[in-house]
Amino acid sequence: MTRETNLQVLLRNRPEGAPQPGDFSVVETVRPEPAEGEVLIRHLFLSLDPYMRGRMSAAKSYSAPVELGEVMEGKCVGEVIASRHPDFTVGDKVLNGFGWQRFSSIRGEKLIKLEEDGALPLSAYLGVLGMPGLTAWVGLEDIGKPKAGETVVVSAASGAVGQVVGQIAKQRGCKVIGIAGGPEKCRFVTEQLGFDACLDHRGDLPAQLDAACPEGIDVYWENVGGAVQAAVFPRLRDFGRMVMCGMIAQYNEAPGADASAAPSGPNLGPVVRKRLHIQGFIVSDSGWSRYENFRSEVQAWMKAGKLNWREDVVTGLENAPTAFIGLLQGKNFGKLVIKI
Ligand SMILES: NC(=O)c1ccc[n+]([C@@H]2O[C@H](COP(=O)([O-])OP(=O)(O)OC[C@H]3O[C@@H](n4cnc5c(N)ncnc54)[C@H](OP(=O)(O)O)[C@@H]3O)[C@@H](O)[C@H]2O)c1
Repeated sequence: MTRETNLQVLLRNRPEGAPQPGDFSVVETVRPEPAEGEVLIRHLFLSLDPYMRGRMSAAKSYSAPVELGEVMEGKCVGEVIASRHPDFTVGDKVLNGFGWQRFSSIRGEKLIKLEEDGALPLSAYLGVLGMPGLTAWVGLEDIGKPKAGETVVVSAASGAVGQVVGQIAKQRGCKVIGIAGGPEKCRFVTEQLGFDACLDHRGDLPAQLDAACPEGIDVYWENVGGAVQAAVFPRLRDFGRMVMCGMIAQYNEAPGADASAAPSGPNLGPVVRKRLHIQGFIVSDSGWSRYENFRSEVQAWMKAGKLNWREDVVTGLENAPTAFIGLLQGKNFGKLVIKI
């Protein structure tokens, strides 16, 4: 029997500005064979996430870039099809960073074994029960600290992180206002996720914020940056918290470009006057050591029908570059995953 070939998506160029399809190449290679201690995995789902734009750049960051000609980095859920590790057998479902490819052979110690649960799809381990959900849970626990009765505003509210942030804040008894792009996403955020309101950032956002939060904002969950941040920031209340999760609207800018936007720099005066707490974080700092606490709480809400989620599933690994380019333009609706 001839061995199946591997399909891989490689980084071909480092983009300047928005990535283009030609920055990636899709190649067929020989499928790997597991060495002693390794597990051969057939990838089922690949997660596409905004941080991958950073990995395409050689600029200094918290993590090393993908080198030119290397397989693009990404987390996958896969199925074990051969094992030379005592802890894994054929048919096991596993999670970790196997990259944008169809097969990989990985040392068993690097894998998380997933308990199959017919009630929840495996792709959920890349979204609501995976890195984006954990990000939401950790950032709220450590930085946002929402208290019952407070007002929480969440940008990119229909997306992978935002949808979980808002629903956890609702569980904590807060008033939750989402911000999203377009009426369809806003309707989903209120009707399916149960936020109190959702504002369309394509409209007059400052006026919508004044109408929805006349009392001001206690917690702002920052996913977007740019004009959305400029509208929310002046409306933070005394002792407000700003959870700096990401600023996707600025990911295609050259490093340092934002610093020169205003000659005097961004106006951070209110941070002192209002005693604000603004903190950035990266989920991988301490998040995974708390994964089991997160999973048991969120999974219980999911099974009890108290937490909803939406995925945007694109079929075919060869479509990953186009889907990723769309993510940076707001074309995804829900957690973006590739079904391989
Ligand atoms: N700190 C961490 O550890 C960590 C971990 C995971 C994710 N993140 C960050 O969290 C944020 C959300 O990630 P996600 O995975 O949940 O992505 P996502 O929300 O599922 O998808 C990205 C969304 O961002 C919005 N967007 C894209 N370009 C925009 C622009 N130019 N202006 C305004 N909105 C734009 C779009 O939503 P609309 O159409 O609604 O505008 C788009 O659907 C990102 O900034 C990401 O880098 C950080």
